[in-house]
Amino acid sequence: MFPLICASVNRRARRNAPLSILHPPCGSVENIRVNHYDLAGKTAIVTGGAGGFGVAIAQRLVASGAAVRLWDVDAERLEAATAELRASPGHVTWRRVDVTDEHAIAAAIAAEQAASVSGRLDILINNAGILGETKPIWETDAVDVRRVLDVNLMGAFLCLRAVTRVMRLQESRPHRGHIVNVASIQGKEGMPYSAAYSTSKAAIIGLTKSVAKELAQEQIYVNCITPAAAETPMAKLISAERKADILRRIPMGRLVEVDEVARMIAWLVSADCSFSTGAVFDLSGGRATY
Ligand SMILES: NC(=O)c1ccc[n+]([C@@H]2O[C@H](COP(=O)([O-])OP(=O)(O)OC[C@H]3O[C@@H](n4cnc5c(N)ncnc54)[C@H](O)[C@@H]3O)[C@@H](O)[C@H]2O)c1
Repeated sequence: MFPLICASVNRRARRNAPLSILHPPCGSVENIRVNHYDLAGKTAIVTGGAGGFGVAIAQRLVASGAAVRLWDVDAERLEAATAELRASPGHVTWRRVDVTDEHAIAAAIAAEQAASVSGRLDILINNAGILGETKPIWETDAVDVRRVLDVNLMGAFLCLRAVTRVMRLQESRPHRGHIVNVASIQGKEGMPYSAAYSTSKAAIIGLTKSVAKELAQEQIYVNCITPAAAETPMAKLISAERKADILRRIPMGRLVEVDEVARMIAWLVSADCSFSTGAVFDLSGGRATY
């Protein structure tokens, strides 16, 4: 039922220098065989689409047959990522969208619907995020806290609200839509010196659970994932000492790889995800205790 394919898309991407900057090589998933999900005919929006997770998620969705719309604030990286992803079969476009700007989101949604052959929006990956300051609470700047909550929480909320307005009105085939919010292990456990980020990710878990209950009878699935740390551009903002501390907390003794995040998301947005909603999916190498 789930034909297995080799991870040839990943290997092809890794041979390309430009994308490897965004999507660093990860040895342990190099030779595995992955499940393939059929997302042909689906349109997916990936926010933070120019970043480390974003590119890997887009790559997996494109390889599964979806048309992918990358949204991000960084137009230069969007352009580079899209050019690279177009080497894979499928269709990728990009749009500069600031997820904190509800008017920009409304305009982008209308444009994506107009550009989509079916007019449908089937998948939303709320992935845009920022780390903010890493400081003790007594030294933390309130402006920075507001910015982190604005991007990580309000950005997800605004995109979720805009997309569900479209999804609720479209035909169920047999589902109307799948939404995945990218939270973090820090949202479950907290993390010293990262109160704003951890709070924003805990709030994403609450947002996921609440909205999923509202949409449970509308064939719209809303789930979230809680990855541990990965080697993406975001991780470059973390000191070596803090990285070592993070690594020590992970029983498997390694960071999560961006392909592992993308593969979990591929299942979560597929037709196979039919009785899971409002759920928190762990990607922490054993770190999470619940
Ligand atoms: N890398 C990790 O260790 C890790 C672990 C757990 C969760 N996460 C979460 O995964 C998501 C992706 O992170 P990443 O590691 O790929 O980081 P990244 O920095 O590589 O990518 C984040 C992307 O979000 C974009 N972005 C920032 N503000 C935006 C805005 N206002 N509007 C639109 N786009 C915006 C950035 O331009 C960037 O391309 C984030 O939500 C992050 O919190 C990351």
